[in-house]
Amino acid sequence: MSHDFETRAIHDGQAFDPTTGAIIPPIYQTSTFVQDGIGGFRGGYEYGRSANPTRESLQTVLASLEGGSAAFSFSSGLAAEDSLLRAVLAPGSRVVMGNDVYGGTHRLVNRVWAAWGVTLETVDMSDLDAVRAAARPGETTVLWVETPSNPLMKITDIAGLAEIGHAAGALVVVDNTFASPYVQQPLALGADVVVHSTTKYLGGHSDTLGGALVVNDDELASKIGFIQFGVGAISAPMEAWLTIRGIKTLGVRMDRHSSNAQAIAEALVEHPAVETVFYPGLATHPGHELASRQMKRFGGMLSVALAGGPAAARTFAESTEVFQLAESLGGVESLIGYPSEMTHASVKGTELAVPENVIRLSVGIESIDDLLADVDGALGRLG
Ligand SMILES: Cc1ncc(COP(=O)(O)O)c(C=O)c1O
Repeated sequence: MSHDFETRAIHDGQAFDPTTGAIIPPIYQTSTFVQDGIGGFRGGYEYGRSANPTRESLQTVLASLEGGSAAFSFSSGLAAEDSLLRAVLAPGSRVVMGNDVYGGTHRLVNRVWAAWGVTLETVDMSDLDAVRAAARPGETTVLWVETPSNPLMKITDIAGLAEIGHAAGALVVVDNTFASPYVQQPLALGADVVVHSTTKYLGGHSDTLGGALVVNDDELASKIGFIQFGVGAISAPMEAWLTIRGIKTLGVRMDRHSSNAQAIAEALVEHPAVETVFYPGLATHPGHELASRQMKRFGGMLSVALAGGPAAARTFAESTEVFQLAESLGGVESLIGYPSEMTHASVKGTELAVPENVIRLSVGIESIDDLLADVDGALGRLG
């Protein structure tokens, strides 16, 4: 019988330990596995880089939640991204990416892969005519989007993008980190690969780094599996286990992140110190209608442009008390960031540069009254 999302998040890949009955399967903190004679592997396990039961548990639940046939987990989001690119690119390949992807993703292609003869073009992915023009049939290997995008929360039509990408012969990749599989299901909308920084909502507690790839195609799965084994940027057992533990509560967390973010977005819109609020849950957001169709909730991320310019943005980011000033996102605790100097410092001076009056909020699951009071207090200090 197939179960609903919340049930799969708790049970898939997580059967109790048959030896002891432990409800939580053990962390297989081991580098190697004893053989019953040469080649006599128990359960197929040989060496920790090729397979580990804890990593397999994580991969099973990830594939289930994203509706894929296979998932692969890595030591970080960027390690996952790099492994995917190793599996599909060759010298001369061309990558087309959103012009507001995470700065590290842009840097990976623009600085690391460029040295191997890979070219990169960036485009506004929320404008499908621009994507169609950039996709250039036969010339593009990978079409890569983040939706909602980071940090300006633009929404891209994944089904429309998949159609354009496939007509051009490109692999369509969606970074689903901001939404999580509870909120958005890119494979069902036609994407070929889902990328995650599991460091964020999937782990959910800011206590571990990780990344994942999920696919629905056996040939692609076997190429990625080979790179995972052959290059070895795997997630370690403890990190995989922490991610599994986080995933169990993904649904309830995302509901709370979303309702807290909606309340903060609505309060910020009314504030005189605020120029623009970027949150797809607001009816005034240009992607609101599309997001209402494509996403189950609007998620916990929002950005704000301050009327007082860069100085006001910096003061605001340094004045909150519950929202902690830190990189990253997606944990239960609220974070505030100044993208142009933090997450997006690597794209300063490029067309991906983030306006200097923008701050980004990762809205946690604390009391909404405390969060609203914190934001209001910090804005009040702008004078
Ligand atoms: C949307 C997105 N994708 C990928 C990454 C990279 O993930 P990691 O930091 O786990 O390598 C990040 C990190 O912030 C991100 O925000």
